[in-house]
Amino acid sequence: MDLFEYQARDVFESYGVPVLPGIVADTPEEVRAAAEKLGGTVVVKAQVKTGGRGKAGGVKVAHNPDQAYEAAQAILGLDIKGHVVKRVMVAAGARIAQEFYFSILLDRANRSFLSLASVEGGMEIEQLAVEKPEALARIEVDPATGIDEAKAREIADAAGFPEDLLDRIVPVIERLWWVFRDEDATLVEVNPLVLTESGQIIALDGKVTIDENADFRHENHGALVEAGDVDPLEAKAKESDLNYVKLDGEVGIIGNGAGLVMSTLDVVSYAGEQQGGVKPANFLDIGGGASAEVMAAGLDVILNDPQVKSVFVNVFGGITACDAVANGIVGALGKLGDTATKPLVVRLDGNNVEEGRRILAEANHPLVTVVDTMDDAAAKAAELANA
Ligand SMILES: Nc1ncnc2c1ncn2[C@@H]1O[C@H](COP(=O)(O)OP(=O)(O)OP(=O)(O)O)[C@@H](O)[C@H]1O
Ligand SMILES: [Mg+2]
Repeated sequence: MDLFEYQARDVFESYGVPVLPGIVADTPEEVRAAAEKLGGTVVVKAQVKTGGRGKAGGVKVAHNPDQAYEAAQAILGLDIKGHVVKRVMVAAGARIAQEFYFSILLDRANRSFLSLASVEGGMEIEQLAVEKPEALARIEVDPATGIDEAKAREIADAAGFPEDLLDRIVPVIERLWWVFRDEDATLVEVNPLVLTESGQIIALDGKVTIDENADFRHENHGALVEAGDVDPLEAKAKESDLNYVKLDGEVGIIGNGAGLVMSTLDVVSYAGEQQGGVKPANFLDIGGGASAEVMAAGLDVILNDPQVKSVFVNVFGGITACDAVANGIVGALGKLGDTATKPLVVRLDGNNVEEGRRILAEANHPLVTVVDTMDDAAAKAAELANA
C-alpha cells in the first residue's frame, strides 16, 4: 500500500525525521485557513498516489492566503495521470539551498535492500538513473544489520554529500531506515531531501510503500487506508477476500491461479487488438477451490463494473475438478439471477473436463458460451465486448 505524502510526512515526524509543518485540506476555504495558520509563504501540494505532481501543476507556491486559495482552486479536481485530486496538503514554504535524493527500497532481484542517494535531487530519479547514472550511488543494505551510523556514513559518502553536512545528514538517514524497518516498508523515498538556507536538512517530499503482508503486526496501518481512496469494486472484492485488481478495459476476467489469470490478461489483450482495442477489465484470481460461493462473489464484483461488456471465465481444473467449477458457475448464475446480464465465455480444461462441459451444456444458460481453447475463448470474449 502506498501512502499519501501527508501520511508519509506524519510517519517521518513520529520517527524524528525533520519535516515542515503541513495541514491537509479538502476545499479552497480550508486551504486559505491553513495558509493563515501557517503564515508566510506556503506550498499547496496535490495529494495523489502518483509521481510528477509538480510538472502536472499539482504543486504551487503561494505567498499569502488568497494566493493559496487560488492555488487550491487550480489543484483540487485536477487529473494527474488518472488520479483526480480530492485533497491537498498546505506545507510551510522552505528556503531551499540545495536538493538531494535519498531512498531505501526492497531489491527483489538481489533478495536484499538497496539504498539510492544522490546530490542531484529534485529531478525525477528514473531520468537521473538514465542520464547521469554516475551521480546516483547504489549501496546494498544487508537486511540483517540494516543502517547504523557507519552504514549511513558510507551511503552519504558514496553519494558525495558535502563533508560539512555529514553530521546533519547521517542521523536523518538512520531515522529513515528506522521508518523502513519498523513500519515494514518496501520503499521509503525522499525527493527532495533539502538543505535550507539556514542550514537545516529537511525531508520535503515523502513516498512510503507499506508491505501489507505485515499488516498483522501493525494495528495502526488500517487507519492509513482511507475509505474514499479505495476503488469501490476493489473494496467490495476485499470484503469477499478476493484477489481483485481493477483495470480499465471491457472484458471481465475470472481465473484460478495467478499465473493463469496473468496469461489470460495477455491473450485477451492480444485478441482485443482485432476488436478495436478491447482490453481486460480486471485481474481476478479465485484460487484453487472455486466453489459456487467464491464464483458468485467474483461474478458479482465483475458484473457490477459498469465498464465490463463481457466476462471470460478461464479455469483449469486441478484439485478442484472441472465438474465442481461448472456447478459453481451454474450455482453462481442462479444466485445472481436477474442481476447477471452480461455474456460469459467459459473455458474449462483439466481434471474432469468432460463432466464439467456436460454440466454447462445441460444447464444451457442463455448468457453462457463454452469455448474449448483459451485463444478461441479470448477471441470470443473480445468480440462480445466489442459487439
Ligand atoms: N514545502 C516546500 N517549500 C518549498 N519548496 C517546495 C516545498 N515542497 C516542494 N517544493 C518544491 O517543489 C518541488 C516539487 O515538489 P515535490 O517533490 O513534493 O513534488 P513532485 O516531485 O513534483 O512530486 P512527486 O515527488 O510526486 O513526483 C520540489 O523539488 C521543491 O523544489
Ligand atoms: Mg518529489
